[in-house]
Amino acid sequence: MPYYIQRLYKTCRESFSPNGPVSEEALERVRAMLEKMKPSDVGLEQEAQVVRNWSGPVHERNGSHQSLPPIKYLHLHECDSFSIGIFCMPPSSMIPLHNHPGMTVLSRLIYGSLHVKSYDWLDSTEPEDPLQEILWNSCSSPFGLIGLVFICKEPFLLELNDVRDLLNSSSCVDVVYFQLVENACEIFSFCCFARPAKLVRDDEMTAPCATTVLYPTSGGNIHCFRARTPCALFDILSPPYSSEHGRHCTYFRRSPRRDLPGEIEVNGVTYSEMTWLEEFQPPDNFVIRRGLYRGPVIRT
Ligand SMILES: [Fe+2]
Repeated sequence: MPYYIQRLYKTCRESFSPNGPVSEEALERVRAMLEKMKPSDVGLEQEAQVVRNWSGPVHERNGSHQSLPPIKYLHLHECDSFSIGIFCMPPSSMIPLHNHPGMTVLSRLIYGSLHVKSYDWLDSTEPEDPLQEILWNSCSSPFGLIGLVFICKEPFLLELNDVRDLLNSSSCVDVVYFQLVENACEIFSFCCFARPAKLVRDDEMTAPCATTVLYPTSGGNIHCFRARTPCALFDILSPPYSSEHGRHCTYFRRSPRRDLPGEIEVNGVTYSEMTWLEEFQPPDNFVIRRGLYRGPVIRT
């Protein structure tokens, strides 16, 4: 019988395509397999044993402050359809809030405890209206979309229909265009710093625990982790990150701005419980190093 990891790889190969999971049933098959994973299946039995005897970080026990080892990423496999890897996190280390654009993510905590916080965007729809497309292009950022929502709704700006009428009238096009661009830029600069998201999860996970599944626009696609003990998180992404296909990792933080609306309407629903997130460069001390995977090798 092949090793567990080889069987998991085979199931992934049958379940994922360059567009993500081929079906809900296929995704469920991978999820069910992940539930059976043991630390020894991926060469991490010794590390898991250390955590079973864990009694707190060394610097808390003897008062000295030792610098923490970096977070390590053990690469197992990557192809057009999916990637498999393991994040090994030392205690107190943190992976800042980041997204998985257009991706489905399965995560299984192999050993240890960590705190997870996750969000989804309140509005993840793409623009469909031709006028919105024009403005979208002028904003040249996905965050412009939120600006467009405001353009259509804010009373101090023109109604969408009025704008359309004015655009159809050649004598006014320049004026309207200028005004629109000006407004779009103004709102764009506001929106590129913050975008509303809803909190999906804010709790602790301790192995052994259920596999989590994040979808492109639900389930907490934007998430962060803080390790409570040494821990290892086994991740399958489908499709994988790819700059070439516009799927790159962006980091976020809660916006410190105090002038952002406390209430927002999206698709006819008013939200008052939300978090404004803005893009952010992780601190220099956030480093993920490549680690050596010592478990059974996947034969492709
Ligand atoms: Fe992630």
